[in-house]
Amino acid sequence: MSELLIQGGRFLTGETTVQGAKNSILPILAAAILTGDTVELEHCPRLRDVDSAVRILEALGCTADWRGDTLTVDTRGLDRCTVSDELMRLMRSSSVFLGPLLSRCGAAELSYPGGCELGPRPIDLHLSGLRQLGAEIRESGGMLHCQASRLHGCELLLAIPSVGATENLMLAACGAEGVTVISNAAREPEIEDLQNFLTTCGADIRGAGTSTITVQGGRTLHGGTYRCMPDRIVTATYLCAAAAAGGLIFLRGAQEQQLATVTAVLRQAGCDICADSAGIACRCEERLRGVQPVRTAPYPGFPTDAQAVVMAALARSRGTTVFEENIFENRYRHVDELCRMGADIRVSGRTAVVTGVERLSGASVRSTDLRGGAALCVAALGAAGETRISGLHHIDRGYEDMARDLTALGAQVTRI
Ligand code: EPZ
Repeated sequence: MSELLIQGGRFLTGETTVQGAKNSILPILAAAILTGDTVELEHCPRLRDVDSAVRILEALGCTADWRGDTLTVDTRGLDRCTVSDELMRLMRSSSVFLGPLLSRCGAAELSYPGGCELGPRPIDLHLSGLRQLGAEIRESGGMLHCQASRLHGCELLLAIPSVGATENLMLAACGAEGVTVISNAAREPEIEDLQNFLTTCGADIRGAGTSTITVQGGRTLHGGTYRCMPDRIVTATYLCAAAAAGGLIFLRGAQEQQLATVTAVLRQAGCDICADSAGIACRCEERLRGVQPVRTAPYPGFPTDAQAVVMAALARSRGTTVFEENIFENRYRHVDELCRMGADIRVSGRTAVVTGVERLSGASVRSTDLRGGAALCVAALGAAGETRISGLHHIDRGYEDMARDLTALGAQVTRI
């Protein structure tokens, strides 16, 4: 079982190029099905979740080939619309294949998506929206049997601005007759990236990034070449690395406007951050200060995916910071592991109170989920001595090569 060994206490200096965004490339890979053609995806991150999405596409009859960081997907050979339970359980995002399959094939057979350690993650909003578009969905034995001889556009109002439901319904609406309007849609930058990809392929979608998205359905899409946006949560992770250890780093390709709530917190804590079109530079030379309460919320609010790494950076701050996790019920599983390293964090329901300590110590810790694992890496960089981090399969789901990137930023990290 591989582990990361991190020697803490080193001032970071260096630069790295931010990988493509996991939460953008996954819905884009599902959307490729709508083109019935070949798409070339540049700056595509090599992640375990991307491998899972490729396995689903191949199981449906598509092919996929890598050339450097370009992934070419050919969907002309798609001849099935069933995804096995084993493949569906690989990741939560497998659910976003439902909309494009219904749109292209008029049918889909799949089970509920894989569980995630973050608490209950229903897909009721996905299913009720697809039913309103005209799909018949029968649930039996954990399987979803879906039929749609014809999808028709309509007005959809989401009870929660769910990222996954917005993406699934955008994709289904592309194949529906007429116009679909999705209100209270998610506004995450990854939704805009999906719209831009689909527009490249001939779709007529407007409004991504706002709460109202309009899809003119029934257009024949085609293939194309698309460059995936940089991963804003990977950017947040490496900014927190410099904040936790002290450092002067440059993140090439990072875009600040997509994570302004995170950089605002890090500035408040004492980091000096400046950004331009080439990327983001971060300098941190002093011990961090505690900050105002951090409350996670749908975009443009503070991203739940950055909660753990920011908490890890503030574990050694001067003062106290209160966190409120409003998106997922069970997203503090990293806290016990941080406390093994000497952090002082008290959790009560959705609230966590971080009382900064002078010193963290290296320890053997275990990743509990993707962002929890990244938080342990951040804490280890600021800790005295060596930290051993196991459960790397979690981290590999969303970070192309954590050891490579942290080493480029001046850290001493070994993967064994
Ligand atoms: C996406 O998950 C991201 N994943 C998550 O990132 C991210 O944490 C989340 O959005 C919120 O920003 C991908 O994009 C692949 P949601 P998603 O539907 O789409 C509830 C990471 O670390 N809900 O916006 O699954 C749900 O339970 C991952 O990269 C319903 O109740 O999130 C949750 O409480 C983790 N019914 C809330 O809405 C539904 O039908 C937000 O979920 C759908 C969602």
